[in-house]
Formats: sequence, C-alpha cells, structure tokens
Amino acid sequence: MPQGYVAPNPVAYPWQWLWDSCFHVLVWQALGDADRARRELAGLFGPQASSGFVPHVNYVRDPEVHADLWGRSGGSSITQPPMYGHAVATLVRAGAPPADGVVAAASAGIRFLLGQRARDPSGLLLLCHPWESGADDSPRWDGYCPGGFDPERWRAEKSRLVTTIRADGDGSPVSNPAFPVASVAFNALVAFNARELASVMGDAAMDAAADELTRALAARWDGDLGTWVDAGPAADGSGRCRTAEALLPLLVDREPVRVACVLAQLEDPTAHGGPAGPTGVHRAEPVFDPTGYWRGPVWPQLAYLLVLAVGHHDPAAADRLAAATVAGAWTSGLAEYWHPDTGVGMGAVPQAWAGLSLVLRDAMGDAGHPTRCPAGG
Ligand code: GLC
Repeated sequence: MPQGYVAPNPVAYPWQWLWDSCFHVLVWQALGDADRARRELAGLFGPQASSGFVPHVNYVRDPEVHADLWGRSGGSSITQPPMYGHAVATLVRAGAPPADGVVAAASAGIRFLLGQRARDPSGLLLLCHPWESGADDSPRWDGYCPGGFDPERWRAEKSRLVTTIRADGDGSPVSNPAFPVASVAFNALVAFNARELASVMGDAAMDAAADELTRALAARWDGDLGTWVDAGPAADGSGRCRTAEALLPLLVDREPVRVACVLAQLEDPTAHGGPAGPTGVHRAEPVFDPTGYWRGPVWPQLAYLLVLAVGHHDPAAADRLAAATVAGAWTSGLAEYWHPDTGVGMGAVPQAWAGLSLVLRDAMGDAGHPTRCPAGG
C-alpha cells in the first residue's frame, strides 16, 4: 500500500491502527521483509503530537475523515497499548534497527504515558477511553455500561465517552472523569514496552519507571480469583472479571506463586485452556461467550503476548500454547478472532494480525514442536 502500512482488514479496518501495526512489524520481520517492517513502524508515528502522544488510528489515507469525531485531523485523540516498544526492540535484536528518529519517537510516546497520563491512587495509569485498551467490549468495562452490558448500549456509551476526554494543551488525552479506569492489562503493556525500549536504548530512567508500574501491578493481584484486578470504581465488580488480557502482567511479573497460578489456568480446559488457543474470558465466568466479540474467543495478539510471557517461565508450556494458537489461526482462515474450541473464524477474515501465527510457528522449531519462544522482555 502506498501509505506504507497494512490495513488490519481492507474493508472493516482500512486505517492504520497503532497496536495492529506494531504486530504487523513482527510479521513483516518473520517474513524477512525488514524494509516493510521499518516503514510500517515509522508510519504509525505520522500523527504523533509534540507531547509524544501517539493516536490510536492514523488516517493518512483520508486525514479529515473523522475530524469531527476527534476534534483533530490526521489521527484520533486517544491512544492504544504502546506495542512499538516491543516492535523497536524486536527489530534491533534482529539486526535491522529502525531509523534513529523512530526510536526517539517511540521513546517520546512511552514517556508521554509515563509522565503526562493521569494516575489512579494505586499508582497505575488511567485509561481515557475503553478503546485505548484495544479490548473494546471486554467484560472488564461492564460496570461502566448504563443498565449493564448490552452491545448497542455499550456502542452508544463508547461514543459518549469520546466527548468526556480531558486533554492537555496540544490536545493529548490525559484523563476521562467518566471512565476513571486503571486497567491492569494496559499498565502491563506500558511496563513491558517501556522495558523493551529501555533494554535497547540503555535508558535507566525508563526501566525504573517500568519497575514502579510493575510493583503497582503486583498489589492488584487477587490470589483467590487468580487474576490482577483493575483499579477504579468497578474494582469490586466487573474490574475483577477473569479475562485473558488481565493476565498480561505476567509479561513483567516474576513472582513464582502468581506465575504458577496463571500458567495452570492457561492450560486448564475449564479455565482459559482451549484446543484453538487461550480463551479471551475464563470459562467459569457467567459472561463467557465463545462467539461474543471480546467475550470469549481467542485473540491472536493476546495469545502471542501470553506465549511470550509464559516462555520466560515454562518454555514447554509456551510451546503448547503457541501450537494451539497456530492451529486455531490456520483453521480460522487467519481471522480477527476465533472460537477457542473449533477455531471457526469470526470478525474480519482475513485480519492481518493473525499473521502473528507465522511468528509463533517460526518459534516452534521442527515438526511443529516448538523449541524456543520469540525473544522478548
Ligand atoms: C477492534 C479491536 C482493536 C483493534 C481494531 C483494529 O477495534 O478491538 O483492538 O485495534 O479492531 O483491528
């Protein structure tokens, strides 16, 4: 594509989405096309603000298309998990480093979040909108849907929540009083990406900031439930629903009891285990729905991240998780997300981030038996 990125799906998602593009970088790298990887990574910083804030969508093909919604042209006025830290680190480790300007842009993006984004008293960063999590209809947000979760009501509420975002001087999003959620998933991904970037830049201050977030995350662990609990008004309700994304603190947490608990759940067929990959929601949750958008299917980008996380602790378990995810991706026709038991594809088909299954397959070694996990963290 002349604009230098792959649309997640040309019909459903024609723009450049932030975290999708970071995953596409990993896929290009696995395909051996370092130039496309570098271009796609550089492109997502096109609408970056002077504060360092990186919009979650880059509308480079038609900069004015949603200017009315966002109050700015070129990009949105919210962000997404800053997976560019991992993308930069992956390219550097592969000996194909991005241009200096891209590393500086990634660093500014992470520093904006660490320094400018409002925090909850727990020390965790606050989301400005559910879309910032990338997990748009996660049951974690059900407590914020008027009258309880309903897809249509939630759609309307997500539109309303765009209007309550508070921005700083240059329009960068810093808080949202109507959605004061400190998501453990989002914070885990900020900490992980900060660590990744710090590791290749030798940035001790960024590393220390990631450690601080990691400590704040540890305090959110609920041993009885076996999950990390979001901070905010729904902490005693939907903020503790057992979802796959809420297990992402495993990317930065090394505490053995927590690690063992999460590993067991990912393999347990009554918890998150599935022949086509890890379920997006724990099967014992009343809201679990293996065909519902963000309510139970396997999401390839979450499965990839969980394989990375598990690989630090139990390479054989990571191999099994990778093998199941690859099987699901193939069966689904490289779908946006799929059924955890049958692999039947749902959402947009094909969806570019299902190409992460190539990255996982490459990490699996001979005869489909994984021998190593993708580098990371
Ligand atoms: C959906 C997903 C989001 C993704 C986008 C583009 O909105 O929830 O995570 O970035 O589609 O694929």
